[in-house]
Amino acid sequence: MNFENFLKPRRKKQEKDQNRIDDIKSKPIPKHICIIMDGNGRWAEKRGLPRSAGHRQGVEAIRDIIKITSELGIKYLTLYAFSTENWKRPKKEVETIMDLLVEYLNRELDNLHKNNVKIMTIGDISLLPRKVYEEIEKAVNKTRYNTGVQVNIAINYGARSEIVMAVKEIARKVASKELNLEEIDEKLISDHLYTGGIPDPDLLIRTGGDWRISNFLLYQIAYTELWFSDATLYWPDFSINNYFDAISDFQNRQRRYGGIETRKDG
Ligand code: IPE
Ligand code: IPE
Ligand code: MG
Repeated sequence: MNFENFLKPRRKKQEKDQNRIDDIKSKPIPKHICIIMDGNGRWAEKRGLPRSAGHRQGVEAIRDIIKITSELGIKYLTLYAFSTENWKRPKKEVETIMDLLVEYLNRELDNLHKNNVKIMTIGDISLLPRKVYEEIEKAVNKTRYNTGVQVNIAINYGARSEIVMAVKEIARKVASKELNLEEIDEKLISDHLYTGGIPDPDLLIRTGGDWRISNFLLYQIAYTELWFSDATLYWPDFSINNYFDAISDFQNRQRRYGGIETRKDG
């Protein structure tokens, strides 16, 4: 086979990807996408592998998604990596997930930084193992002035505990007279969440086939469009084509926000 023939399929794929990117970019694009990256365990079990292999493969799937998010000019991407309820899992599995997070940040940080990605976390990181906490701090600090896509990693995140935290903080301010009761409104509550200052998600994607929210961004998704994959699509297999499908689907929906006019904006 000559070199030209060898490169042909790759060029074809690049062309196809570029066409889809151009198509999406010709329509209003979402400002904020959030993803429940579910199905790592089942992906592995289906192959007779330990669940840890699924988590490892799941981490690999993240790279392309960040790259495409950035190419599309989407400003915010929030990834659900570990919930407040995931501590219920066997100690060994929790350790594997934590180790993979450290490994991921360590390995990818330079590349993310080079690509102008800003790393943030949402969730209570103070309760994480020391090495995870330190690795996160390092990534957040290094990328803090980057102006490209902001990737929020939800880790030890739970929407209900986030709301409890916000309520306590607001109550404390009222008690100390820093705030009046009348000043409490939807925006003030929003501003006291981990996602304060970040626009609400336009699109929520969940892989793995379950149609539920699992304590993710409850306050923020009031008018978010939801996209659930079919049951055979586990996170490690989520490809950029699946991502394009979800975004295109979003672009064809009418967002009414309780009104009656047709709106297709992000
Ligand atoms: C998502 O995959 C990753 C985390 C929750 C950390 P799961 O580990 O939940 O995989 P399934 O849903 O059991 O297949
Ligand atoms: C949601 O998945 C949390 C993450 C993807 C990090 P889970 O696997 O924990 O959700 P449930 O238990 O199926 O609701
Ligand atoms: Mg799961």
